Amino acid sequence: MSFLNPNQRSSRATTSDHHLPSTSTASTSSSSSNVHNSRKKWSNLLPLFLVLVFIAEISFLGRLDLIKNADLLNTWTESFYQFPTSSVDDDSITGAVDVVDSGDGDESCEEWLERVDSVVYARDFKTEPVLVTGAEQEWRSCAVECKFGFDNKKADAAFGLHSGAGTASVLRSMESAEYYPENNLALARRKGYSIIMTTSLSSDVPVGYFSWAEYDIMGPVQPKTEKALAAAFISNCAARNFRLQALEGLEKSNIKIDSYGGCHRNRDGNVNKVEALKRYKFSLAFENSNEEDYVTEKFFQSLVAGSIPVVVGAPNIQDFAPAPGSILHIKELKDIPSVAKTIKHLGEDPIAYNESLRWKYDGPSDSFKALVDMAAVHSSCRLCIFLATKIREKEENSVFPKRPCQCRKGPETVYHIYVRERGRFEMESVFLRSGNLTMEALEAAVLLKFKSSNHEPVWRNERPESIRGDKNVLKVYRIYPVGMTQRQALYTFSFQTNTAFTSHIESNPCAKFEVIFV
Ligand SMILES: *[C@@H]1O[C@H](CO)[C@@H](O)[C@H](O)[C@H]1NC(C)=O
Ligand SMILES: *[C@@H]1O[C@H](CO)[C@@H](O)[C@H](O)[C@H]1NC(C)=O
Repeated sequence: MSFLNPNQRSSRATTSDHHLPSTSTASTSSSSSNVHNSRKKWSNLLPLFLVLVFIAEISFLGRLDLIKNADLLNTWTESFYQFPTSSVDDDSITGAVDVVDSGDGDESCEEWLERVDSVVYARDFKTEPVLVTGAEQEWRSCAVECKFGFDNKKADAAFGLHSGAGTASVLRSMESAEYYPENNLALARRKGYSIIMTTSLSSDVPVGYFSWAEYDIMGPVQPKTEKALAAAFISNCAARNFRLQALEGLEKSNIKIDSYGGCHRNRDGNVNKVEALKRYKFSLAFENSNEEDYVTEKFFQSLVAGSIPVVVGAPNIQDFAPAPGSILHIKELKDIPSVAKTIKHLGEDPIAYNESLRWKYDGPSDSFKALVDMAAVHSSCRLCIFLATKIREKEENSVFPKRPCQCRKGPETVYHIYVRERGRFEMESVFLRSGNLTMEALEAAVLLKFKSSNHEPVWRNERPESIRGDKNVLKVYRIYPVGMTQRQALYTFSFQTNTAFTSHIESNPCAKFEVIFV
């Protein structure tokens, strides 16, 4: 995507984040004194710490009615709690029995944990929404109350670099770091941005080009009526990758290409791009830089058109493929002969060609859905959820650090775990038992929990009807600890062993997870 071309800019302005300028980083000052690490920024987020402690004390005192025996205050401060069994005559059980067991003695570990682990947060987002300044945002809805604008009130976050204590500096851009070096994550952090929103799935709140609303991915395949095998819309021959050489290489390999863009033009460019692409078997989706996760409308328009994308661009473009074998990738110049050969082969074999478009009929893969469903929730809303999550974490760590989070009854320990769907904010409680502290058990518990509440996945009304799946079936794609990047969540992270999972639960009391449904 060349930043030199104004037309491309306007086409980009119609992507998912079309309310927003593609680069909303009115970088003001960037003196080295602005360089804080993100931890420091967050520590500034709640300067009202003393107030919080005071409130916490009130709510703690409020709990004393649950705790009839003052001795047991000590128990509260232990992260592990000995739960009373119903056989009260067991000497090994301490006075704790009288405490948590306020009444009939039949309260289960789950009920008890739900009660004593619950936290009353000082910051109520309903009355005091997350405030982000420096950009406008019109909401349809967001899982957490949130306000954008140009308020003078102290904001939780603001676009651009600034030094306001307690306000996080947000960098948001959809350009590649090759053209805008500041978008490089490490560099942006060094400059003092504490929240980074770029196309990188390793950024804090990724902003991609895709949205279900913008791209009719399941649009029908049309007859390939053009003589040329491929269409190209490359406006600018100059790019920082080898896309020009790739174009020339394919031409030299006798692939007939209709070029509508400024580069090697041989067709009138005044056409509707997606409509034109539908008539071609292949579409040259050549980005201006080969950067991880940098995948623009060139690629997604080819998918809409049902024209197999031939990609020069993101080295991990296969992660974005709607199905295995559905796209071609020119990773390096030396791939050109083999890609040219595949293009010719598929061009001459209708059955093999149609097979590459099978996903158009059967639907895209789970991994594709899991990736692009991220955009079912607008990036500005995801920013608010990110901020609100940090604010709550901060409160929890400073004010409620010693929730029990686990409970022993007889030989068994019950662990309290929190789970939410990606794109949502509020957490649900699930419980795991020491005899079955595995990822499989967590998945089963999550499914049970969400099914019992007739949970609707965030993407339910966003995806095209034909790929929404059965309303009564929830399928877990991933479960990962809250705080991970999407790159980790989708591609690199897993608990290798149940031991690793157990030790995560043991070392993160009241562990929080996010689940992706497909
Ligand atoms: C391609 O395959 C789909 C199903 O796999 C089929 O419905 C369609 O008719 C095929 N198209 C052609 C042109 O063979
Ligand atoms: C452990 O959890 C799995 C998944 O929920 C379940 O199928 C299995 O029966 C459980 N095993 C025990 C010993 O409870």
